Amino acid sequence: MASQLLCFLVLLTLTTICKSKSCHPNDLKGLQDFKSGIHSDTSSRLSKWIGRDCCKWEGIFCSNVTKRVVSISLPGLYTSDDAPIQSAMEGELSPSITFINYLEVIDIGDLLGITGKIPSSIGLHLPNLRKLNFVRNKFTGALPESICMLSKLEELYLQENGFSGFIPWCIGGVKNLRRMDVHSNKLSGVIPESITKLKKLESLCLQENVLTGDIPENIGNLQELKETKVYVSSLPELQSARGGIPLPSKPGKLSSLSFVRLQNNRLSGTIPSSIGYLTSLQRVSLASNQLKGSIPSSIGNLKLLEMLYLSYNQLSGQLPRSIGGISKLLYLSISHNMIEGPLPREISSLSNLQSLDLSFNRLNMSTIPKWLMQLPLLSRIYLAGCEIHGEIPDYIPKSLLELDLSANHLSGRIPAWIGSFSQLYSLNLSKNKFVSEIPSTVTNLDILGVLDLHSNKLEGSVNAVFQIKSRFAEGSLTYLDLSDNNFSTGVEQIGMGGQEYIQHLNLSHNFLKGRLPTSVETLKTLQTLDLSYNGLGANLPTSLANVTALERLMLHKNQFTGRIPEEFLKLNKLKELNLSDNLLEGKIPYGKPFLDFPQSSFSGNRGLCGKPLLPCKS
Ligand SMILES: *[C@@H]1O[C@H](CO)[C@@H](O)[C@H](O)[C@H]1NC(C)=O
Ligand SMILES: *[C@@H]1O[C@H](CO)[C@@H](O)[C@H](O)[C@H]1NC(C)=O
Ligand SMILES: *[C@@H]1O[C@H](CO)[C@@H](O)[C@H](O)[C@H]1NC(C)=O
Ligand SMILES: *[C@@H]1O[C@H](CO)[C@@H](O)[C@H](O)[C@H]1NC(C)=O
Ligand SMILES: *[C@@H]1O[C@H](CO)[C@@H](O)[C@H](O)[C@H]1NC(C)=O
Ligand SMILES: *[C@@H]1O[C@H](CO)[C@@H](O)[C@H](O)[C@H]1NC(C)=O
Ligand SMILES: *[C@@H]1O[C@H](CO)[C@@H](O)[C@H](O)[C@H]1NC(C)=O
Repeated sequence: MASQLLCFLVLLTLTTICKSKSCHPNDLKGLQDFKSGIHSDTSSRLSKWIGRDCCKWEGIFCSNVTKRVVSISLPGLYTSDDAPIQSAMEGELSPSITFINYLEVIDIGDLLGITGKIPSSIGLHLPNLRKLNFVRNKFTGALPESICMLSKLEELYLQENGFSGFIPWCIGGVKNLRRMDVHSNKLSGVIPESITKLKKLESLCLQENVLTGDIPENIGNLQELKETKVYVSSLPELQSARGGIPLPSKPGKLSSLSFVRLQNNRLSGTIPSSIGYLTSLQRVSLASNQLKGSIPSSIGNLKLLEMLYLSYNQLSGQLPRSIGGISKLLYLSISHNMIEGPLPREISSLSNLQSLDLSFNRLNMSTIPKWLMQLPLLSRIYLAGCEIHGEIPDYIPKSLLELDLSANHLSGRIPAWIGSFSQLYSLNLSKNKFVSEIPSTVTNLDILGVLDLHSNKLEGSVNAVFQIKSRFAEGSLTYLDLSDNNFSTGVEQIGMGGQEYIQHLNLSHNFLKGRLPTSVETLKTLQTLDLSYNGLGANLPTSLANVTALERLMLHKNQFTGRIPEEFLKLNKLKELNLSDNLLEGKIPYGKPFLDFPQSSFSGNRGLCGKPLLPCKS
C-alpha cells in the first residue's frame, strides 16, 4: 500500500515537471543573464522570475503566435511629483539580451542604476526592435553603428545617460524612426547629414551634448513628412550648434511646424525674414544665441504665435510695428538685447499679452508708458534696466503677479498703495534710488513669494516684512533680499511671522543692531542666511543649529560675542561659512563641516582658536 502511494506521488511529481512549460532556451538564457547582471532591485520584480516559463514573468510578454519573448517592460515607476518610488535597479546590462531575438520592445527606462553599453551587434540580432528605452540610467559607451540596421525602430530614448562618441553617420538608415531623444549625454562630433533622411521624424532632441558644427541645412526638408501626414512637433535643440537658423527660404515648406525651440545654441546671423512663411508657428524660442540684426517685420504674419522668446541675443533696431498683428501673443520676451526705443504703439493691440519682458535693452524709456500698462491681461511685467526715472507711477495695474522694475533710476518713496497688489507673487525694485521706509501695507501682500529691494536707500525697520502672514498655511515667502540699504532695526522679528518656508534671506550691508533671536530656528528651509556687514551683537543663538538646511551662513563684519556653539556641527549641509571680523572667542567646534572652511572664515575675532586657526592654549 505504502509503495503504491509512493509510486503515485512520484508519478504526480513527474507529470507536474513535464507540464511546467519552458520558454524558448534563447529567451530563457537572455533573461536569466539579464537577471544575474542586476545586483539590486528595489522593486523586487526580478525576484519573482522563477521557473522556466519566462512568458509568465513580470514585465515579460510573449507572442501568442511564435511563443517567443517580444517585450521586456520594466520601467521605473514615478509618482506624480516625479520622485522615483521603489523601483530602481542597479547592475550591468548583460549583452546576452541579444539572444532574445524576437524582441520588439525593450523598456528599462528610469531604473536609474543600469550600467553597461548598447550591445554592438544589436542591429544584427534584434531586427524586430520597435522601441528602445534606456532613459535615465548610467549607460556609457558609443551608439553602435549596427543601430542603423534597425529598420523597424520607431522610438529611441537614450536621454540622461553617459553615452559618448559620435551619432552614427548612418543614422538615416533607421527609416521608421519617429522619435529620437538623446539629450543630456556626452555625444560629440557633428550632427550627421543623414538625419535629414528620417522622413518620419516627429521629434528630435539632441540638446545638452557636446555636438559641434551646423544644423544640417536640409532639416527644412523634413517637410516631405507633411505628405505622409506626420506632424512635425519640434526642430532639434542643439547645445553647441552654430551657424544660421535652418529655415526654408520658400513658402510651403515646413508649413505644419508649430514649435521652434533652438534656445541655448550658438546660432549666429540674423533671424531670416522667411520665418514669416511658417504660419503654423505657435511657439518660437531663439533665446540665448548670438543673433544679430533687427527682428524682421514678417514676424507679424505669424497669426497663431503665442510665445516669442528672443532674449539674450544681440538683436538691434526697433521692434517692428507689425508686432501688433500677432494677436494671439501671450508671452513676449526680448530682454538682454540692444533693441532701441521708442516702443511701437501697435503693441497696445496685443490684447492677449500676459507676460512682457523688455529688460536690459537700449529702450531708454524714461517713464513707463501708460498705454502699455492698459493691456487688459498683462500680469507679468519686466522692465529692468530700461532707464526709467522718477517716481513709481500709480497706473501700474493692481492685478499684477510679477513686477520687475529693478536697475532703473526710480526715486521717492515705495508707495503705500503697493499693499493693494493682492495677486503679487514677485516684486523686484532692487538697484533704484528709493528713499523711504518699507510701507506697513506690505503685510497685505499675503501671497508674496519673492521680494527683492536690495541696493536702494531704504531705512527704518525691516519688521513689516517679517509680519507678512501668508494666505497659505505653508507660507509663501521664499526669497527676501533687503541688503545694501540703510535699515537700522528689525531682526528681532525674524522667524516670528509666517516665513517658515523662506530659503534665501539677505539683510547684509545695512545698519542692523541688536541680537539674532532664538526664533531663527523656525526658518526650517533656510539655505542662505547673509547678515554680514551690520552691527549685530550678543551671542550666536544655539538654536541656529536646528536650521539644518543651511548651506551658506555669512555673519562676518558684525559684533557677535561669545563662543561658536558646538551644536553648529549639526549644520552638515554647510558649504560656505564666514564668521570673521566679529568678537567671538573660544575653541572652534572640531569636526565636519567646520574642517572644510579656510582660516579667513574665522579670522579677525577676539579670541578664536583651534583648527584651522592656531591651537588653543590649554
Ligand atoms: C493573444 O493573447 C491575448 C491574451 O490572451 C489576447 O488578448 C490577444 O487577443 C491574443 N492575440 C492574438 C493575435 O491572438
Ligand atoms: C534717453 O532719453 C532722454 C530723454 O528722452 C534723452 O535726454 C537722452 O539723451 C536719451 N539717452 C540716450 C542714450 O539715448
Ligand atoms: C532683481 O533684479 C536684479 C537686477 O536686475 C537682479 O540682479 C536680481 O537677480 C533680481 N532678483 C530676483 C530675485 O530675481
Ligand atoms: C547679499 O547682498 C550683498 C549686497 O547686495 C551681496 O554682495 C551678497 O553677495 C549677497 N549675499 C548672498 C549670499 O547672495
Ligand atoms: C544712511 O544711514 C546712515 C547711518 O544711519 C546715515 O549716516 C546716512 O545719512 C543714511 N543715508 C541716507 C541716504 O539716508
Ligand atoms: C532644536 O534642537 C534641540 C536639540 O539640539 C532640541 O532640543 C530642540 O527641541 C530643537 N528645536 C526645534 C524647534 O526643533
Ligand atoms: C570672510 O569675510 C572676510 C571679511 O570680513 C573676507 O576677508 C574673507 O575673505 C571671507 N572669507 C570667506 C571664506 O568667505
